[in-house]
Amino acid sequence: MKGIFVGTKPSYKVIIGKGALTQVGSLIKKSSPEVEKVLIVTDSNVAPLYLDTVKKGLEISKFEVSEFIYEAGEQNKNIGTVSDMWEKMAEEGFTRTDAVVSLGGGVTTDMGGFAAATFLRGIKVFQVPTSLLAMVDAAVGGKTGIDLRTGKNLAGAFHQPSMVIEDTDCLKTLPDELIREGMGEVLKHAFIMDPELYEMLVKKASEGGISSFRDDDQFLEAMVSKNVADKVDVIVDDEHDNGRRQTLNFGHTVGHVIERNSDFKLPHGICVAKGMGIIIDSSVKAGMLEAEEAGKMKDLLSAYGLPVSDDITAEEAVDGAMNDKKKRGGTISVIVVKKIGTSEIVRMTPEEYGEFIAGGKNG
Ligand SMILES: NC(=O)c1ccc[n+]([C@@H]2O[C@H](COP(=O)([O-])OP(=O)(O)OC[C@H]3O[C@@H](n4cnc5c(N)ncnc54)[C@H](O)[C@@H]3O)[C@@H](O)[C@H]2O)c1
Ligand SMILES: [Zn+2]
Repeated sequence: MKGIFVGTKPSYKVIIGKGALTQVGSLIKKSSPEVEKVLIVTDSNVAPLYLDTVKKGLEISKFEVSEFIYEAGEQNKNIGTVSDMWEKMAEEGFTRTDAVVSLGGGVTTDMGGFAAATFLRGIKVFQVPTSLLAMVDAAVGGKTGIDLRTGKNLAGAFHQPSMVIEDTDCLKTLPDELIREGMGEVLKHAFIMDPELYEMLVKKASEGGISSFRDDDQFLEAMVSKNVADKVDVIVDDEHDNGRRQTLNFGHTVGHVIERNSDFKLPHGICVAKGMGIIIDSSVKAGMLEAEEAGKMKDLLSAYGLPVSDDITAEEAVDGAMNDKKKRGGTISVIVVKKIGTSEIVRMTPEEYGEFIAGGKNG
């Protein structure tokens, strides 16, 4: 079992390892003995797989446990579901010293975190992510929230978890499709900041990629830990999303437009991969990246079954970027990888950005 310290205010730990689910109760008891009641928030797919294990552990550790199960799916990441969580906690008589345990993918950790951030103006949340995307991204960093009819993630709060507990065994029941989506963010971390992770992934790709690492416990633990450490490194540096945290948006500005163009039918990780592919091509054309280095990145994306292009036009990319909430003033912050394992923020005017994207598309 690995522990990664997150030095935000307040600070917390991410515990990663095979079998960690059985220790959720004892870990929470040790770190937060004042908590009496916990609400386990989970979805209809994850509940039959893991709810019993977590519930049993919490009961053995003498917590008063209640559960909230919602119908799985992004379409339920809304205020109605969160409101039902609030009502459930109110009915159970939760006080400021009680807590939420989110058990599931990113939809669950986002909503459980938001319910905890807002109930009685803020109670503790313990994040127990079960999807790869939630382990390497959503559950760490303190961003919580819900979707509005107008757009994704438009309402939310920063609320750091009191602990994150990640059991890599959960990845064994995650369909290949969802592993692949998570790999979009994993490859992103490798490209923007982690040459060692990049080498690990190249090696694993040559051994068969996703199908070869499912049962490789050591690899899963190492891969997840490195990703968590990378994200933690960035967010501790920049707790409120205005500086270095932007590098985590590599491939995202274009990716978000592709996601919207597909009416959200294409999953986020797939759109991010396409976005990274497009930015990689544009960077080569703009003389910011060697063709050989670009080829290596695109090959690795392909090796994990991820797409590296899309028929989005430069005009759509600019329009989308101008509407994107990540925009700063009149310029667009473009994250560019000039060498694998490093990244830079390059600010471009909408005109420059249009030319940059068009260059890559015509390359
Ligand atoms: N807060 C953040 O910083 C942040 C970052 C990235 C993504 N997100 C959010 O995360 C969400 C996407 O995450 P996601 O893909 O995990 O979504 P999700 O929670 O919907 O999970 C995807 C699917 O996998 C199922 N599942 C989860 N774990 C499983 C397991 N171990 N075995 C079998 N099935 C399992 C779920 O039931 C669901 O059907 C989006 O809403 C996105 O906005 C948030
Ligand atoms: Zn992302």
